[in-house]
Amino acid sequence: MDTSTAAKKIGNLAPNVAVNAVLLPSQELPAETPIVSGYDWENGTDFNKILESYTRSGFQATSFGNAVQEINKMLKCRSVPLTEENSDHYEEDVFIKKKNNCTIFLGYTSNMISSGLRDTIRFLVKNKLVDCVVTTAGGVEEDFIKCLAPTYVGDFNLSGKMLRTRGINRIGNLLVPNDNYCKFEEWVTPVLDEMLEEQIQNGTVWTPSRIIAKLGEKINDESSVCYWAWRNNIPIYSPALTDGSLGDMMYFHSYKRPGLIIDILSDLRRLNTMAVKANNTGMIILGGGVIKHHICNANLMRNGADFAVYINTASEFDGSDAGARPDEAVSWGKIRPNATPVKLYADATLVFPLIVGQTFAKHHFSNKKNV
Ligand SMILES: NC(=O)c1ccc[n+]([C@@H]2O[C@H](COP(=O)([O-])OP(=O)(O)OC[C@H]3O[C@@H](n4cnc5c(N)ncnc54)[C@H](O)[C@@H]3O)[C@@H](O)[C@H]2O)c1
Repeated sequence: MDTSTAAKKIGNLAPNVAVNAVLLPSQELPAETPIVSGYDWENGTDFNKILESYTRSGFQATSFGNAVQEINKMLKCRSVPLTEENSDHYEEDVFIKKKNNCTIFLGYTSNMISSGLRDTIRFLVKNKLVDCVVTTAGGVEEDFIKCLAPTYVGDFNLSGKMLRTRGINRIGNLLVPNDNYCKFEEWVTPVLDEMLEEQIQNGTVWTPSRIIAKLGEKINDESSVCYWAWRNNIPIYSPALTDGSLGDMMYFHSYKRPGLIIDILSDLRRLNTMAVKANNTGMIILGGGVIKHHICNANLMRNGADFAVYINTASEFDGSDAGARPDEAVSWGKIRPNATPVKLYADATLVFPLIVGQTFAKHHFSNKKNV
């Protein structure tokens, strides 16, 4: 309907200015613009189709679909075989040595390991679906603590005062008894003794990634992410390794047997070298803070990542790095300008297992079938 016919229908009383404003004619959208649609429930409950329908649903459902597409692009690029020219024959560091055509950096905050997301992350590391991990101290120690004693589901509203009197710690709606940390101290202290001994006797330079690999070997438990990372030579970097219970244990240990030194610069060199040497890189970053910046900054050393997915709940209005959208990283050279990065605003515990189901798991199980 053109505006003058519309104006007649509405009647002479409607002011032209209002009619023209409300019924402003549209320009054609590009032919390929997707049409919004949702899941057709007449198909029954088909979770795969439900998730596939997200792309055209709008809002964060569309970002979910875009994140799935972006990760599938990483996996396609990763499956291109290395050639004679772009292989890494002479690299002796097994952590750094290039293993495929797209080095995938996975970052996650500590609370993800406290949550059930640990099991999804272990699937990725156990099956060598990612090449490099960055996490914070809690993301390391909570993995070991869970091998020694369980974490429980509680409630966000449990009183801190009441929990304190009972020796229970709260992480969101999860509960960790204090005894778990006592068990962790009993387990980790002799390993710290060994590390100090190795430093004194053999001159071993301990970096966070070497410490995590050593602990991964020592725990010898297939439920642990760090165990599989050690077995598969996947480095776990954690530049702020002392900011958690592990730091508390090292602090106490430093009174008993002083002298253990942790070198964070050697790890930075290892991480940055991995990014520099990679043929292509993909970043999957769950949460913000140190883990997000550390991975992005390593990718700056290669003039930007080729693929990127951020999943977090942070906003950019406060200027935080945690909330910065991928476009801010493009301005710094941390993501390539021609990349198609995605930011999904969501709690990672809710969406990441579903994303893995639509990407890594499909890729892994279809490859297994074809072998
Ligand atoms: N279990 C624990 O959380 C734990 C345990 C011991 C020590 N710590 C220490 O606390 C410090 C801060 O923790 P951190 O740097 O790991 O991250 P953090 O918990 O401070 O989170 C950083 C940002 O990530 C985003 N984020 C966090 N959880 C998310 C989720 N579920 N989904 C989407 N986005 C999410 C939020 O924007 C948040 O502001 C670290 O030094 C860590 O070692 C944490």
